[in-house]
Amino acid sequence: MENFPMEKYNTFHVAVNSKYFSEFDSDESLYEILDFMETNKLSHLVLGGGANILFTKDFDGIVIHPVSDNIVVDGDIAVADAGVVWDKLVETTVSMGLGGLENLSLIPGTVGAAPVQNIGAYGVEAKDSILWVEYAGVKDRKLHRISGKECKFGYRDSIFKHELKEEAVILRVAFKLTRESEDYPYNVEYGALRAKVSELGGVSISNIRKATIDIRSSKLPDPAILGSAGSFFRNPEVAKEKLDGIKSRFSEVVYFPLENGNYKISAGWMIEKTGWKGRAIGNAAVHDKQALVLVNKGFATGQDILRLSDSIRHDVENTFGIILHPEVIIL
Ligand code: EPU
Repeated sequence: MENFPMEKYNTFHVAVNSKYFSEFDSDESLYEILDFMETNKLSHLVLGGGANILFTKDFDGIVIHPVSDNIVVDGDIAVADAGVVWDKLVETTVSMGLGGLENLSLIPGTVGAAPVQNIGAYGVEAKDSILWVEYAGVKDRKLHRISGKECKFGYRDSIFKHELKEEAVILRVAFKLTRESEDYPYNVEYGALRAKVSELGGVSISNIRKATIDIRSSKLPDPAILGSAGSFFRNPEVAKEKLDGIKSRFSEVVYFPLENGNYKISAGWMIEKTGWKGRAIGNAAVHDKQALVLVNKGFATGQDILRLSDSIRHDVENTFGIILHPEVIIL
């Protein structure tokens, strides 16, 4: 389809057009799209739920959108197609008594997008369960399978954002799960999650799912109602000296130690501290319940949201000497 309106295909609900738009529901239909792309020398963008992207202008290429939606569970391994809605996979596996994804309940987006940015929440990341990823090579039109290790996962990062950025279209992902049993390694490190789970009557994967859904719904906007892409910025990593400098001025700074000796500082806390929480520039606003989340209150353009993000970055840099980096992909 040509000159395709993208408003419904990005959770910020920004109204831009894509020159071409094509869906695939099988490996074969994807290879046909890749042929078309090559013949017409088009640049491409693979877009799942559009839950981590900010369009600032029309896209002058082809948007490729997976709609393949099979989930096959064999023993403790679940293989899901790229087009499966992420939370559908979590719901399915949890309801079968298979744990691993319960802390990742209600994250917007699709299975194909999960490995790209290594989605994470409440002490768990997709990488903890990903066994392998299958993708189609854009140039060689071959099916490739790489292991979780080969995906080079990092904090909201993977090989699919670097070496394989233009080269891979993810077809399906396999997850190694764990059947719930007495010695199942529940992850309730996150304080609010632990509290909510005990309110629900004790720890189980289905209670972790319920509690996660509760916490997310209370802090994060439902993109179907209020446009957003979840956290807009990453939590920055700093060395101890930098943190100590900030601590001497703000003893209440929120931070987490990392294994490499550095610290992650809460970007949401810094944004709140600079007075941006709940503030808006036109229709682009900072969410009033979580300052790391930017929202579209109505008809904001991508440029409006970018302007808001620039103002926030400017103030955070002036106050803390830290440059915030977007977590969302800005196009
Ligand atoms: N905080 C504030 N003010 C705010 C927001 C946060 O002071 O407005 C402080 C609070 O002390 C809070 C702490 O920061 O306790 C941490 O906040 P939260 O637990 O909401 O987590 P986050 O670091 O802001 C990250 C992820 C989220 C994920 C949550 C929970 C990133 C970029 N974001 O946010 O992921 O859901 O942890 O694990 O790492 C996403 O990536 O889109 C996303 C929503």
